[in-house]
Amino acid sequence: MDRDKQAQEPRRSSKESTKPVRNSALSSPWITAAIAACVAAFAFRFSDWSKTQNSDRTYCYEGVATLSDTKPAARCFTVSPSGEFTAVLQQPPASSTGVTYEILPGYVIPGLWDGHGHLLQYGEFLHSVDLFGSESADEVRARVVQYLDAHPGVGAPGEWLRGVGWDQMVLGGMPTAEWLEQDERLKGLHIMLDRVDVHCVWVSQAVLDLLGPDVPDVPGGEIVRDPGMGVFCDNAMDLITAKWPRPDAAKKKRFIRSAMAELHKVGLVGMHDAGATPEDLQLFRDMSQDSSDWTLRVHAMLECKERNTFCPDEASAVRHQDDFLSIRSVKLFGDGALGSWGSAMLDPYTDRPDTTGSLLVNASTLTSLAASWSAAGWQVCIHAIGDLAARLALDSLEAALVDCHPAREPAECSQRRRFRIEHAQILHPADRARMHALGVLPSVQPTHATSDMAYAELRLGRERLTTEAYRLKSLLPLRPVLGSDFPVEPPDPFQGMYAAVTRRSPKTGLGPGGDAKVGFLMDEALTLDEALHGFTGGVAYGGFMEGRAGVIQEGALADWVVLDRPLGEYGVEDLRSMRVRETWVGGRRVYAREDCR
Ligand SMILES: *[C@@H]1O[C@H](CO)[C@@H](O)[C@H](O)[C@H]1NC(C)=O
Repeated sequence: MDRDKQAQEPRRSSKESTKPVRNSALSSPWITAAIAACVAAFAFRFSDWSKTQNSDRTYCYEGVATLSDTKPAARCFTVSPSGEFTAVLQQPPASSTGVTYEILPGYVIPGLWDGHGHLLQYGEFLHSVDLFGSESADEVRARVVQYLDAHPGVGAPGEWLRGVGWDQMVLGGMPTAEWLEQDERLKGLHIMLDRVDVHCVWVSQAVLDLLGPDVPDVPGGEIVRDPGMGVFCDNAMDLITAKWPRPDAAKKKRFIRSAMAELHKVGLVGMHDAGATPEDLQLFRDMSQDSSDWTLRVHAMLECKERNTFCPDEASAVRHQDDFLSIRSVKLFGDGALGSWGSAMLDPYTDRPDTTGSLLVNASTLTSLAASWSAAGWQVCIHAIGDLAARLALDSLEAALVDCHPAREPAECSQRRRFRIEHAQILHPADRARMHALGVLPSVQPTHATSDMAYAELRLGRERLTTEAYRLKSLLPLRPVLGSDFPVEPPDPFQGMYAAVTRRSPKTGLGPGGDAKVGFLMDEALTLDEALHGFTGGVAYGGFMEGRAGVIQEGALADWVVLDRPLGEYGVEDLRSMRVRETWVGGRRVYAREDCR
């Protein structure tokens, strides 16, 4: 989540174009059925042949795109009581028992995964004021008041009103505590609002009062004092969070439940959590024991209490492995964000020739951390946005492979380790080649490219932009893991696919410079099939679940998504506002669209 991003434009749904998505092999050729409209009174029924030998259940749909190599298209599948696919069938089974197989409406794809998101923070975001896209102080206040109306009692000393998404660039200057006091209804409330990039907080007077009269400067942080107090950035945020009544376990559980429900709505059955504390991972473990409380599959990266350290005791206390929660992975941080010139670059920024950004850790520490974690049996995932950070990350991962090499082939070592570079946003061509040789996986968020496209060239210059930045197609041989970085971007994987395929913003449908037709660095665009693979098999491989997740085949987890049409038959613009019919996890339906219930 360590990144700047421009203010989001308000989301807008579009049904403009019906141009078919190119190169898609997803639609089953033999299915010509018209769009299956949801029937309001549709009662869901199972074809249940369980009365005979076992209690497996068979489901038949208008079409099933399995994403498996051997049987790409099917019509039915069978699910065991333990929630695995036990058979995939081209036709409804021949019935000797007189059971008829009802063809359920809709077209199935495997359950989708997000390869890089933040579960708890997303839940917290859902329980706070959404300020993304707000364009004036009036609008911020209005949204806060509206939230207050819906959540009476927030803003009390024990329960601060939280929000996220403001941006001083569009508010016309750094906001102050006083701005919030201008609305009678907000006077005296405890309010803490995160900037779009979560690198600053803006607080109310009641919160400022907790700090006392003289607030000293904080190294590595900024306290904005002009035009008035109210905004605290980076390390100075600690002054505020020290006073903040942190959510307790009960509240965090509410956040997680809300997040899971919301993620299922967009077709997600699983996610990779890109950094959770040992305390939060313990909560994940507790909750995941109860299958009614935990419906999403999570592969979580541990973040030590102290960032960029080796904490083997905390780690082994939370290590975990089952089909719903796997904790065997750690998150390290190489650098900061591009928007604020924080990414560590090999060469100076084009628009700030005085700086190359900053590393959050030096090369020797990173190397020793990667080696220690790898030797302790943990998957190492390193946040790296700038090309210098990526190079040092690769140096450290290469060194960490030495204990496996040369006794084994590098490919075999990588197969066991699955080291990852999170974001992999700016990569020198030589380092892309090294990633390939070392088998290091890029974990990429296609919507970051379209959110950054307005200013990326200013920061990087044309040459560096076109040879290094926001690669996608050229990373394909490296098996990219695709995701969204929610809550920094919306979690909808179809919007991620849209961004990957069109390289235009799913929010506006526009490319850089407001050009509707031309996307950003189109040489790097994926086909829809490639993008879909990134959100299924790519994430599965990055989480040691190939063959188990992101595919419908015998022995895989019974997770699937039902759409109204075969994915390849949607117009590309439809991906911006896709509404899935149903989402199933482990043979259980975890989401049904209102008109399909
Ligand atoms: C790297 O950072 C560590 C921890 O901050 C420090 O102890 C060490 O001296 C640094 N090494 C170099 C070569 O700067």
